[in-house]
Amino acid sequence: MNSVTTDAHILISMTYASRANPNVSATDFNEILQQAQTNNAANGITGMLTFNKDYFLQTIEGPRAQINRLLHSLIVDKRHHDLQIIDTRELKHREWSNWSMNYASPTEENAAIYLKYSTTIGFNPYLLNAESAYGLMNELSVQKG
Ligand SMILES: Cc1cc2nc3c(=O)[nH]c(=O)nc-3n(C[C@H](O)[C@H](O)[C@H](O)COP(=O)(O)O)c2cc1C
Repeated sequence: MNSVTTDAHILISMTYASRANPNVSATDFNEILQQAQTNNAANGITGMLTFNKDYFLQTIEGPRAQINRLLHSLIVDKRHHDLQIIDTRELKHREWSNWSMNYASPTEENAAIYLKYSTTIGFNPYLLNAESAYGLMNELSVQKG
């Protein structure tokens, strides 16, 4: 039995922050989202991604082995750097079961949600603790519906 088989029943989530590389454009953001949604649908991964032009904050949830595999890909992905894990937890159930990858970016409408969990006006996920990151992702998600 390989590790994928043995871990298949254990559901986890992982939340990380990363810094977008300077040459990453709006088109790249769309490509990342599309790639995430296509791959995740095939791999049993769900989650939530938020970004502005400088940072990403993402929660991925799914079988532990798949989440670890994706983590290896994310770490070497040249479109961002300084990946820092904010939280990992075992789950009883998924938070984003309807989304291969939900997403939100800062807008006028959701500015108050970012501010609610931040000490700064600008969005900087490196300054969030696990609870705030989780709260932020959840509220952004609820607002999107
Ligand atoms: C911020 C960010 C978020 C990403 N999220 C995902 C994701 O949720 N799922 C995924 O499969 N790939 C995601 N990727 C892409 C992976 O790093 C990697 O390029 C991809 O999984 C490789 O897929 P491939 O083997 O089909 O080429 C993300 C990349 C970045 C920069």
